Amino acid sequence: MLQRCICCCFSLEGREAARRSHKGHGGGGYPWEIYTLKQLVHATRNFHEDNKLGEGGFGTVYWGRTDKGVEIAVKRLKAMTAKAEMEFAVEVEVLGRVRHKNLLSLRGFYAGGEERLIVYDYMPNHSLLSHLHGRRSADLLLDWPRRMQIAIGAAEGLAYLHHEASPHIIHRDVKTSNVLLDADFCAKVADFGFAKLIPEGVSHLTTRVKGTLGYLAPEYAMWGKVAESCDVYSFGVLLLEIVSARKPIEKLPGGVKRDIVQWAAPLVEKGAWERIADPRLGERFEPAELRNAVAVALRCTDLNPDNRPTMKEAVELLKGRGLWKRTKDVAVEKAIGEEGDEEEDAGISEPSQPERQSWKTTIVR
Ligand SMILES: Nc1ncnc2c1ncn2[C@@H]1O[C@H](COP(=O)(O)OP(=O)(O)OP(=O)(O)O)[C@@H](O)[C@H]1O
Ligand SMILES: [Mg+2]
Repeated sequence: MLQRCICCCFSLEGREAARRSHKGHGGGGYPWEIYTLKQLVHATRNFHEDNKLGEGGFGTVYWGRTDKGVEIAVKRLKAMTAKAEMEFAVEVEVLGRVRHKNLLSLRGFYAGGEERLIVYDYMPNHSLLSHLHGRRSADLLLDWPRRMQIAIGAAEGLAYLHHEASPHIIHRDVKTSNVLLDADFCAKVADFGFAKLIPEGVSHLTTRVKGTLGYLAPEYAMWGKVAESCDVYSFGVLLLEIVSARKPIEKLPGGVKRDIVQWAAPLVEKGAWERIADPRLGERFEPAELRNAVAVALRCTDLNPDNRPTMKEAVELLKGRGLWKRTKDVAVEKAIGEEGDEEEDAGISEPSQPERQSWKTTIVR
């Protein structure tokens, strides 16, 4: 059935054929619909510049309103290179299957001639990127509870992709522009275009490294080794970004680049957890939650993929329900268990020798 749906996009000509084929699949069985070009041209005012929401690696996204008054986001893929065509097929197939409260679902698509258009629900609060670093950052709409809600939501969306979706899905491009926010600031992880459908438990090698600099797990960037743990690494970077509002990579004077983990880890080691919080929050954050979130982020970005938690474990840890089980987590557990009192902070920066050793293996890169 799915095969034939992909065929709708590539083999059959024109919308009537696509419509016929789609109906032939059993109609109501699919959670998405096929749009006509006319509908989408009308909705986006012929892809008017003013309707542009932004541009990514594979195309431009436009805001639109359908005849029924529903707000939509239409991703218009760039000229049909082989890459983009594959991207379209993957995205249609993956999004057609996956439904979860923290994933941006596909509303529909159009395929005909040179055009490949993907239709999503419009997310009125745009992307996490725009709130942390972009145009909306000055409004400071992301207070602490919202940030934690977004972090947990994004983690749950990824955990669903890794553990529940069948077959399991690795996202491969987890970053703040791919976490969108609905009217209630509920996180919706977007863009499964990079995702690969993989059979259960299989980790495999790929020659094409996709993703965005600053978020890439070292083993993925260097050897192209793809596994769920690569998403876990990217999520750790995202988590640090959420709490600190710093960019994944910053340029230091002299042109040296430093990633966000290299910035945060020494602060944790000094016990200066509070300095990691976004300064714009002032004191309006929960110190214990901050410590927990930072500790989870550091675990997720461990250089050794085997030491990273799964996304399911990350969700539990973020909710404060997980156990810091391994020996080397003792120092983390100790640190996050302490309230933000000066004396105790000093204790974290000067742990006993064995603890310090284990602590270093966790956070020092
Ligand atoms: N459904 C949507 N509602 C609101 N804004 C959206 C929606 N989908 C995408 N956007 C925004 O449109 C812009 C372009 O998105 P696009 O996915 O093309 O690029 P990207 O996320 O920056 O990079 P990539 O191509 O790697 O995903 C982004 O700022 C994104 O947040
Ligand atoms: Mg995107």
